[in-house]
Formats: sequence, structure tokens, C-alpha cells
Amino acid sequence: MSFQKKNKKNSYEFNCPKDFQHLAVIMDGNGRWAKNKGWPRYFGHFRGVKALRQMVKSCSRMGIPYLTVFAFSTENWKRSSIEISVIMKLMRRALTRYKEELNRNQIRLRVLGNLEELNSSVRDIFNEMMEQTKNNQGLQLIVAVNYGGKREIIEAVKILSKKIEKGDMKIEDINEGSFSQYLSSSAFPPPDMIIRTGAVSRISNFYLWSAAYSEIYVSPVLWPDFNEEELIRALEFYTGTHRRFGAAPEEEGSK
Ligand code: IPE
Ligand code: IPE
Ligand code: MG
Repeated sequence: MSFQKKNKKNSYEFNCPKDFQHLAVIMDGNGRWAKNKGWPRYFGHFRGVKALRQMVKSCSRMGIPYLTVFAFSTENWKRSSIEISVIMKLMRRALTRYKEELNRNQIRLRVLGNLEELNSSVRDIFNEMMEQTKNNQGLQLIVAVNYGGKREIIEAVKILSKKIEKGDMKIEDINEGSFSQYLSSSAFPPPDMIIRTGAVSRISNFYLWSAAYSEIYVSPVLWPDFNEEELIRALEFYTGTHRRFGAAPEEEGSK
């Protein structure tokens, strides 16, 4: 592998690829990680928080502007009430515990998804941390919680339909630009790359609209084992891709 020696802090020297704005991660494989060890599923979520903390630190140090982590999907409500409550408690605990760390590292917390349907203690800590970190100038950490790409699109359609109904907008004025501004993810640039861990190669209702041209990197590593070395492997994959956005490859010698 082409990357770099470890520095004094025992972390790899690696800078964010040029023009790279937004990394999004589907943190999958917690349950299987625990099962492989003969432990209950929630152990995997517990260790997943540790992997997430490392990921945030690495992205912050590498100078990546936006990091989205998919923490809980609109479909994850189908899980047992015990598992859901463990995930919610872990989110609350992590936000409380790493409050200082986020601020010290100038990390701004954002949320993508519906907080209203969460237990008030979880909702409150998300709101509190968004408020407390809103002026931070470093990494923007977007937690996708109770988020689903389909729901996001439906919400935008509803806003737009109301505008048309009230006569504030005409159907002819709907285009990609005017529509996408009503998507909650329009607050962030589209993800340049989506990493999915846990060897599963599906999008699972994540960023349906803005992933239109994201590079997809599937890692065989289960999320609790996903470390900085694996992150660099993914970013190296990205640097080797040619993003064409539908255009033909440039011919040799042409401009
Ligand atoms: C991802 O790990 C975490 C969440 C969906 C919250 P999983 O819990 O889906 O783990 P696997 O895919 O069952 O191994
Ligand atoms: C996707 O993982 C959602 C999160 C990582 C939060 P899932 O484990 O829920 O996805 P499926 O069910 O395997 O598609
Ligand atoms: Mg899963």
C-alpha cells in the first residue's frame, strides 16, 4: 500500500484528497461483529461508537470538510425495542461524553433526519449540541438519525405541492435546482464518496438524491473494526477514480 509512515502520535500522515468535500459512511456490521464473538448484538453497537470516535478524529485531522455517518435509518424502527433503546442510549451517552472533544476540535454537529420522533432526552442532547457547536469552523459532522432518503424526497414534494397550491410556484418552475433546495440534505454538498462497511453493497435508503454521482466503496470490514488504515484505503480508492458525471472520457491530446 502506498501510504505513509506513522507519525509521533502513532497516526498516519494522510491529507484529504484535493477537492474532496464530503465523506458519508454507512456504518454496518455491528450485529455480525458481536455475533462472531458470541456476544449479544448491542455489544457491536457499543464498540461501533469507539470506531466512530476514531473516524471523526481522523477526518477532522485530515481536513475533510463534511462527514456524514448513518446512525439510524427510518427502517431501523423494525428492530427489537431493546436494540432500539440501546442505540438511542449510546447516542445520548456519546454526545454527552464527547461534548468537550467536539468543541476542542472545532467540530460542528449537524443532524439529518427527523428528531421529533425520538425520545425527548435524545432529541434534547442533539439540539443542545447543534446549538453549542454551531460556530465551530472545523469538520462538520452530520449524524443521519431517523433518516431515510425516500422520506426526505416525500417531504420536499409536500413543501413544493403546498407552494403550488397557494399559487407561489408554477409546475413549469420545477427543475432539479428548484426541487433540490427543499431537500434537507441540500444544506450540505453531495457526498463525494460513500463507504459502506460490512461487505454489503446496497444503499439502504441513504442519500438517495445526492448520491447520484457519489463513488461507492464497499469494505469487507465490519464497522467496529473499521480503523484509520481502512479509511485511508478507501480514500486511496477514491483518488484512483475518474469522476465523469456522465461525460465521455477526455481523449488523449484533447483539452
Ligand atoms: C449497523 O450495524 C448499525 C445500525 C443499523 C444502527 P447492524 O446492527 O446493522 O449490524 P449487522 O448488519 O446486523 O451486522
Ligand atoms: C443501514 O444498515 C442503516 C445504518 C447503518 C444506520 P442496515 O443494517 O439497517 O441495512 P440493511 O437492512 O442491511 O439494508
Ligand atoms: Mg446491518
